[in-house]
Amino acid sequence: MSSKPLLIAQISDLHIKAPASLAYGRVDTAKALERCVATLNAFDPAPDFVVISGDLADTPTAPEYEHLQRLLLPLRLPFAAIPGNHDSRELMRAAFPQTHCAHASGPLDQKLELGALDLVLMDSSVPGAPHGELDATTLRWLDATLASSRDRPALLFLHHPPFIAGIWHMDRQNLRNADELATIVRRHPRIRHIACGHVHRATLTLFEGRSCTICPAPNHAVDLDLAQLREPSFKVEPAALHLHTWFPGEGFGNLVTHQVPIGEFDGPHPFFGPDGKLL
Ligand SMILES: [Fe+2]
Repeated sequence: MSSKPLLIAQISDLHIKAPASLAYGRVDTAKALERCVATLNAFDPAPDFVVISGDLADTPTAPEYEHLQRLLLPLRLPFAAIPGNHDSRELMRAAFPQTHCAHASGPLDQKLELGALDLVLMDSSVPGAPHGELDATTLRWLDATLASSRDRPALLFLHHPPFIAGIWHMDRQNLRNADELATIVRRHPRIRHIACGHVHRATLTLFEGRSCTICPAPNHAVDLDLAQLREPSFKVEPAALHLHTWFPGEGFGNLVTHQVPIGEFDGPHPFFGPDGKLL
């Protein structure tokens, strides 16, 4: 393949607290974001864009967004963010005035053109509630935005997964009107991928025949309790992000999602010596 792929990094569920506060009394989410930003800055080749798919703050308060802004300052890549259930639309609008919102108020929906790709960021948050829902404004905007082209591949981003993942306390707060999203997805073959957050762990399924992922978090993971054995819990598992890699090509090209561990690791080391033989 001759053309350079487009790299879209996705990070999710940052849960930034006010300085010196730990999430759930245990997790230093600020340190976790610092490591995440360092990993993004060090990645070679540099990602073309970063999408932050919700839960940027935790409770949410203005000091949390101020802390978040300071933590994101070292990020050397362009980025956009959508709210999750732990966010405030108003505080996010104030924290990120450069955001190209589709509407003057209400949901923070955004469409971004990245080369030959459209990134469609949907606000699935419901103010004051943990579950997700795409309201009538977002659904109308989404359908019209997707109808504006037939041949540009589009990647959708939203916080709440539109599918059951098997973790009971998260499934009851996923996207409530997934059927309305499904109706729109069926109408637009140019949707190549749907990327979500909320569950803090890597998950892959198909949604209306399109690949659909949940991005892991830089901090803690929701416990993979698939049999309702425990009260809602979390584990501090290896932190990671997703790197959606779009290769131009026939039709809509091809999208490959890599999971990238956050942190510094030994290597890279060569497989082959100066003589061309395997070491
Ligand atoms: Fe969430």
